[in-house]
Formats: sequence, C-alpha cells, structure tokens
Amino acid sequence: MTFYQSKGYKQVYDIFISKFYDIGLKIGLTPNGENVLRTSVFKSVSPYIKKGDRILDLCCGTGTLTILLTKLLHKNCKIIGVDLSSGQIAKAQKKNRYSNLKFAIMDANDLLFPNDYFNQVVISAALHEMNKKQRLNVLSEIHRVLKKGGILLILEHHEPLKASLRILYNFYLGFIEKITSHSFEMQRNILKELNKMGFNILRQTPIKNFLNFFQIILSKK
Ligand SMILES: C[S@@+](CC[C@H](N)C(=O)[O-])C[C@H]1O[C@@H](n2cnc3c(N)ncnc32)[C@H](O)[C@@H]1O
Repeated sequence: MTFYQSKGYKQVYDIFISKFYDIGLKIGLTPNGENVLRTSVFKSVSPYIKKGDRILDLCCGTGTLTILLTKLLHKNCKIIGVDLSSGQIAKAQKKNRYSNLKFAIMDANDLLFPNDYFNQVVISAALHEMNKKQRLNVLSEIHRVLKKGGILLILEHHEPLKASLRILYNFYLGFIEKITSHSFEMQRNILKELNKMGFNILRQTPIKNFLNFFQIILSKK
C-alpha cells in the first residue's frame, strides 16, 4: 500500500488539505482559471446528459465541480459526489443547496452502487494520485457502475505540447511530483488502461487555456 491509499493519506486530507483545499485551488489556478477548468468539464459532458440521468462525481473532493454540474444541469438529474475523505465530504455537504445532489464518504475501490447504475461518471484530478493497481481497480469499478453506453469523463494532468515547456514539466513530474503522485506514469498509460478495462475512447483533448497542462478524456462503456 502506498501513502496515497493509506490511512495517513486520508488523514492528511481529513485534517489538513480539506481546510485549505478550496482557497488553495483559487490561489494556484486563480478563481477564473479554476472556473475555466470546471466549466470545460461541464461543456464536454453535458451533450451526453438527458433529463433524469444519474451522474457520479467520483473522488469529488469538496464538491466544487459536483455543485457546478448540479447548478447547470437538468433539475431532475440525480447527482452524487463521493470521496474517501470525511473532511472533504463535510466541506462539500456544507456548500450543497440542492435537493437532487447528495454527497457520501466512499472508497472508489469499492463503490456501494449496483451494476449499470449511472449514465455518466466524472473523475477530476484524482487518478494521478493512484498507482497502477489502484487505478485499474477504480476503472473497473467505474465500468461496473456505468450503464452500457454510459460516458466516463476524466479531467487530468497533461504534458504541455511545446518542447521547451515539456522538458521543464517532465523534470518537475519525474523528480518532484513523483514524490507526491503517480501523474507521470498515469499520463503514459491511461489510454491503454481504459481500453483494457473495456472503455472506447471518444476523444482526448488538452485544455488550451492552461498551456495544455490539463486534459479531458471522454470514453464510453
Ligand atoms: C486532488 S483532489 C480532487 C478533488 C476534486 N475531484 C476536484 O476536482 O477538486 C483528489 C481527491 O481524490 C480523493 N480520493 C483519493 N483516493 C480516493 C479513493 N480511493 N476513493 C475516493 N476518493 C479518493 C481524495 O480524498 C481527494 O479529495
């Protein structure tokens, strides 16, 4: 077990990160930058969403994306955000003003939902925190709870396209970020892993506003 799925990892999120998560993102990405990223998720997934759909925001953190999706989608969609950290979920619950949105503490490795339950699953900025074994396990759980034809949207880190930036970025990912995440390895393997778990890739799109530092991967069960 790595730090990321250990008790320590959850405790760091519960006790420390959850307190500063929202403000930290706003400082790191700027409020407008965060909004661009969150809105790009909505724009990519919303064409697939119909009235009455069930949508899961997996590893939802403090629920900022989940709440934005709820605000912008049909009122009679059912939206559920789940996260391993009780600290993150407590923050999300405090912000929730919608009756069609629920948050719950849950491990993405062991989802408490029946097979073929959701029409769409989104997972934002969480897969890079999981090692290969955990990632495959989580992708297999997503595949299980998605209906046939259902959509999985992944928002994740992405290597910049410009060569000079890529050298700097890979230095950062290969040495510094490697201590705290599996981003480097995730970025190189995610498409193969999605295929292996039975998803069909619809598209992989870098988000231009951030020098392509983020990407959206849309796939279908
Ligand atoms: C960087 S945060 C991203 C949060 C949110 N999706 C967002 O876009 O702001 C990663 C989140 O993944 C959650 N997480 C990591 N492993 C998990 C697991 N096995 N099950 C559920 N949540 C998990 C963490 O608790 C954390 O809140």
